[in-house]
Formats: sequence, structure tokens, C-alpha cells
Amino acid sequence: MPNEEMVVTPWKVSGEIDYEKLIQEFGTQPITDELLEKIKKHTGELHLQLRRRIFFSHRDLDWILDMYEAGHRFVLYTGRGPSGPVHIGHLVPWIFTKHLQDVFGAKLYFQMTDDEKFLIHPEFTLERTNRIAYDNALDVIATGFDPKRTFIIMDSEQGGILYRLAVQVAKRITFSTVKAVFGFEESSNIGIIFFPAVQAVPCFIESAITGENTPCLIPAAIDQDPYWRVTRDAAPKLGYYKPAQIHCKFLPGLGKGGKMSASLPETCIFTTDPPEVVDRKIWNAFTGGRPTAREQRLHGGDPSICPIYYYYYYLFEDDDSKMKNLAEDCRNGEILCGECKLKLAERVKRFLAEHQRRREEARNRIEEYKFKEP
Ligand code: TRP
Repeated sequence: MPNEEMVVTPWKVSGEIDYEKLIQEFGTQPITDELLEKIKKHTGELHLQLRRRIFFSHRDLDWILDMYEAGHRFVLYTGRGPSGPVHIGHLVPWIFTKHLQDVFGAKLYFQMTDDEKFLIHPEFTLERTNRIAYDNALDVIATGFDPKRTFIIMDSEQGGILYRLAVQVAKRITFSTVKAVFGFEESSNIGIIFFPAVQAVPCFIESAITGENTPCLIPAAIDQDPYWRVTRDAAPKLGYYKPAQIHCKFLPGLGKGGKMSASLPETCIFTTDPPEVVDRKIWNAFTGGRPTAREQRLHGGDPSICPIYYYYYYLFEDDDSKMKNLAEDCRNGEILCGECKLKLAERVKRFLAEHQRRREEARNRIEEYKFKEP
């Protein structure tokens, strides 16, 4: 697949992804060592996802930190398009967002775009995407966000302030802009053409409610960036700060190349997968290994193309020196894929057992987390 052209939009991610090129194309900033030092002053030891540049790009993160240092608190905003079950790739930015909430004591607005998924998928009903939104909210809550400071916005139920702010934003964005940014066409339904205004709203809710202009930081995968471009254009016209972003990479799927995607279930570890399914999927995964143990011992494997390696790297091995050893042992043929897979499967199962326990507990806590207009 390496020759397949890279596509990164909010609704499609395919081809081999060149993150440096995305920084260029999207006009964002790389996360520099200097910026990491600045973050470290507030967070202490850097989070794995920063140390390893899983969050690799940003806009105005330096500004948000300057504001914070000058005594201005910021709010966090992230979200989920509920089109199907949650997998461990979705958890990557949520885990990091929880870390930011913990270290900065920030409020989090979490948007569930059941409206977006209804509008974009010809065959989906709103009832279906709303049902999925409630299911996905269990995973959000299980991630461990602070119930007192976390507000889940169920788009299709919200109305009120969501609609009032959305029309304010919509008035400042032209069709020709969203057409260019999102690739809309004459045949696109007008709901989806309006929708970028809806996704902009949570950036401004805190400011609108409190009457005090409040900076907003959005941790999210890089594919959501088109939304923030139009939001940032509209913000000053409404008298609000432009929202800042910090962008992450995609967790690879268990197959050869490509991000983890629910539409390819065998290459995907869902948060509700039982242990035997986790074992099977990991066992069948593509790796950077050689066809035979003998060749692997002789020539070594290639961690840079191995999803198993990336799961340790993104989520399941926090110790940098162990990570380095693993890569070396793989390249030197000192560890075989079977062993590496079995160890990973144990960690994933342990992680999921805990996540699933919290997910069940979350069933009667959704109301507590839901945003209610004051
Ligand atoms: N459009 C996003 C999706 O399809 C959902 C979303 C809404 C979101 N607001 C967000 C994602 C803010 C990240 C940050 O998944």
C-alpha cells in the first residue's frame, strides 16, 4: 500500500500517512523540544504521548501556556463521532486529555456528534447514532474523567445554547470556505454543510456561559483539523479567542498498514472485546517479523512497520528504556513475534478487564456527566 495516495479528512483516512507533510499542508506547528520543556514546567514528567511525539503538532499551544502562566485558565474540548463501537485507537487522545485535565485542573467539554454521523452516513438514522452515542459515552466515562469537571454534549438533544452559538458561527463562515476546506459539493446535504458550525460551538460554550472570554485547547487526532481552521477564522469575529489545538497521530490497525478502523473489525481491538477475541486478533496480526523463526534469528525483524510494536509504543509500555530494548532485540533477532504478541495480549487483556469494569459502572452515571445548560 505504500504508493496509495495519502488522504486525511474528518471522514476518511487512508494511504501511508506522512505526518511531516501534514504539518506543511495543514499549516500547523511541530511540537518542539523547547515547547516540551515549557509543558514540563506544569506537568512534571512528560506524558508518554508527548515524549514519543504521538501528539506531534499544534496551534497556539505556546500561547495557551503563556495565558495559563499569566493566570488565565483554559478549558479542554474533545469529542467523538458515534458511528460504531469504540476501539483502543479512540482511547489514545482521550487518555491524554484526561492527563491534561488532571494536571491543569481543567474543565472538559466532550461533544458527541450523533448529528454529524447521521448526516454523513446515507443509511444511518438519528435514533441509531444517538444510541451509539450513549454506548460510546460509557467508554468516555470509563477513561476516568472527573465527573465534576466533564460535560458530555449530546448534540441531537442539546438545542438551546448549542443552536444559538452555532448560528452565530455559521453566519461567519461562507459556503465557498467550507466547500474548499471539506470538499463539499452541490449535491451535499445542507445539514452537513452547516455542521462545521456545530462542531465549533464547544470552543465557545464556557465563554458564552460565564461571560468571560476563556481560552480553549483541543486535543484530537489530526484529521479533525479542517474543523479548527474554519473555527479559528470565525472566533475573532465573535469576540472569542481562537481555539488552540494539539494534534495526535493514528494508532495503526492490526493488519498491514493503515489506521485502526472499526470497518475492519479483525484488525481492531474494541473496548468490549472478550479475552479470547483479543488473543485471536493479536495472534493473527501482521508484524515486522520474518516468515520463519530461523530467518528472524538470522536477520531480525523491523519494528518500524509492526503494529504489535506500536501498541507497546502508544499505550502499553511506559518505560522508555524497555521500549528501546524491545526495538533492539527485535532488530537483532533476539525476540520472536510469538513471544512479543503473547506479552502484548496479556497487557491488553489486563487493561481491558479494568476498562470493562469501569464501563459497566458508568451505566448509571451518564446523567451525571451530561452537559446541562445553566
Ligand atoms: N467529528 C468528530 C468525529 O467524527 C467528533 C468530534 C466533535 C470531535 N468534536 C470534536 C473530535 C472535538 C475531536 C475533538 O470523530
